[in-house]
Amino acid sequence: DGWRLKVLEEAGSTNDELRSCGDEANGLVLLAERQTAGRGRRGAAWLSAPGESLTFSVLLRPNEPKAFWPRLSLATGLAVAEALGRFGVEAQIKWPNDVLVRGRKICGILVEAAAQHVIVGIGLNVGTREFPDGLEATSMSLELGTPIERSDVLYQVLKSLVGWSGEIGSGFPDLLERVRERCALSGESVSLMSGERSVSGVVSGIGEGGELLVVTDDGEEKFLQAHEVRIRR
Ligand code: BTN
Repeated sequence: DGWRLKVLEEAGSTNDELRSCGDEANGLVLLAERQTAGRGRRGAAWLSAPGESLTFSVLLRPNEPKAFWPRLSLATGLAVAEALGRFGVEAQIKWPNDVLVRGRKICGILVEAAAQHVIVGIGLNVGTREFPDGLEATSMSLELGTPIERSDVLYQVLKSLVGWSGEIGSGFPDLLERVRERCALSGESVSLMSGERSVSGVVSGIGEGGELLVVTDDGEEKFLQAHEVRIRR
């Protein structure tokens, strides 16, 4: 399965650019040096300094039914975490798909489904030196104390993503095993919004379908989707 890399000096959002690429084949990677309208989850803006981070999106055409596509969130988080590990950066996955190092965010992932394809957007802090006040974030360079070649990182992430993005069907139990080993939320007291409902409890793990399992006053509950999960300390 070949990747095709397309690099733009500037884009609004690489996720938006790929949304209208309905006729492109599986594996198109669109990377922008600069995003003028980078988006995070829940409508937040995603800001990144040019040259310091990797901001790209991958167009995928999974063989699995659409109901399984949301599993690509976990698959992508795992792919990034494993790629970081090859550089000596030990990363955790904060369900559903933030990648953390020592509790600080190093990568954000935005998975969006179009009619016939999925867009996996990745914003990874490679060489970022400073973050706005109040943001608990980090970068590979800050963790390792050395500059890192962004193309090496891109290559490693894509390599892992080829593998794990194919495991959202029959391979999902194996994928989950690996995700659980890196679960940043297990055992943590959390609060989250599920629809209009505010929930708090202790995370007991990740379920067979990739749901977050939380023990609340009502017993163990499963969440397939939730707003930001906050760790309570
Ligand atoms: C998040 O943590 O809220 C997700 C952030 C996702 C950012 C990436 S950068 C490349 C792609 N294009 C976008 O506009 N967003 C994603």
